[in-house]
Amino acid sequence: MNSYDDQLKKAFDPESFRAEGHKVVDGLADFLATSTPEKRPRVMAYENPEAMLKSWAGRFGPAPSTAFPDLLGEVLDRSNNLLHPRYIGHQCTTALPLAALGGFVGQFLNNGTAVYEMGPVNVAMERQLVRWMTGLAGWGPDADGVFTNGGSIGNLTALLAARQATAEGNVWVRGVGSETPVAILVPESCHYSVKRAVAIMGLGEEAVAPVAVDDRFHARPDDLGRAFDVAVKRGRRPIALVANACSTATGSFDDLEAAADFARSRGLWLHVDGAHGAGALLSPKYRHLLRGLDKADSFIWDAHKNLLMPALITAVLFRDGGRSCEAFSEKASYLFEKGARDEWYNFAHRTMECTKTMMGLRLFISLAAHGADFFASYVTAMFDLARDFAVLLRGSGDFETAVEPESNIVCFRYLKKGEGDLDGLQRRIRRTLLERGNFYIVQTDLRGHAWLRTTLINPRTTLTDLEALLDEIRAVASGGTLF
Ligand SMILES: Cc1ncc(COP(=O)(O)O)c(C=O)c1O
Repeated sequence: MNSYDDQLKKAFDPESFRAEGHKVVDGLADFLATSTPEKRPRVMAYENPEAMLKSWAGRFGPAPSTAFPDLLGEVLDRSNNLLHPRYIGHQCTTALPLAALGGFVGQFLNNGTAVYEMGPVNVAMERQLVRWMTGLAGWGPDADGVFTNGGSIGNLTALLAARQATAEGNVWVRGVGSETPVAILVPESCHYSVKRAVAIMGLGEEAVAPVAVDDRFHARPDDLGRAFDVAVKRGRRPIALVANACSTATGSFDDLEAAADFARSRGLWLHVDGAHGAGALLSPKYRHLLRGLDKADSFIWDAHKNLLMPALITAVLFRDGGRSCEAFSEKASYLFEKGARDEWYNFAHRTMECTKTMMGLRLFISLAAHGADFFASYVTAMFDLARDFAVLLRGSGDFETAVEPESNIVCFRYLKKGEGDLDGLQRRIRRTLLERGNFYIVQTDLRGHAWLRTTLINPRTTLTDLEALLDEIRAVASGGTLF
């Protein structure tokens, strides 16, 4: 089995593929079955980056070295286990196993979706999903959008469209230097990708006009006028307002009605960053948190955050679908882009990517197989769990919460008796938990202090896991094993 011909035959041999595929799926199913605190206590086996790098050196070369099924065990053991109920850190969700299979099929077929003829099924599926999502937002038949690779590119895409829609001239051709400097009103609680998008667009970070937040980290509607006026005084032309639904650090939902009223009164484009919180649209109990979204011009929704999808699937949605053609338009106004608008099925007009994975397929088959109600129940359950966790924390006597949770994000800290440096303590606790590997949580700075932060995004996480987390924190804080 040395010649290229032999190797080629093996690489595309259906029976080898079948056998390897079965082994891999069996391995993954076992991993899923054992991803419980009882069977597999550790959610991660943290290794320092240098050691990790070294351990993978020299393991492939000109000749075959290891068959994939043989490597699988090590990959699973040394990777972070997002299927584990105690993986409750960042906003990356546990992947619905079926969606992962959909991803596998998508990668097997490898249809790019820049233009319809490259990936017709996925293009149609994405279009149907976009309609479903814009319908949930309360938008009419003119709404449209596309899927893209993550919320950061999503925010950039929406703000590019906002810039084009509000440009004085042909900014695409003549550049931002040909225009009056602009400003975009951005709550202090916004995800960093918003500020980064502003800088990427060449507007300069100074184009960000910060909007103050209240004590629960909502953009303050009464600060919008001030932020607008300051930008104007600095010689800038405000063009857009960004609102959070919800914010990254604390999961706080801005008042979208107030944001929409202000945007309308000042002629601003309203972009809602719903990367994390738009899933609440599905929940009869929590969809009120997005009241006012129907008046926004654009919003993004990350299915890899609150819809159990493997990364990445972000929908960038526009109330006026024509605007969706503007982000990457070579024309000043979408009125001239009739061709692009008619060709809804050729995504390259409207996304950063040329080649795009079959991301719609994963979500479509998941919705078809599980039904949208399943996802609605999931979102409700996770938001409920966050509220229950907050009750547990407040009732504990030795923990405090930063704010009452509005989504599935909970920030809290341990109030160890007699501890003079509470901020340092939280950071040491977090670091120790990372090294121990029984839980994965993160940290954030709020009001100048360090807080522990969890995102309850795994449907298999229960209040019992969270009680165990508090016990683990007490134990590491009192056991002298802190880093
Ligand atoms: C509110 C918000 N917007 C945007 C993003 C960026 O999304 P992505 O990581 O998919 O690029 C995040 C990520 O955490 C987020 O929380």
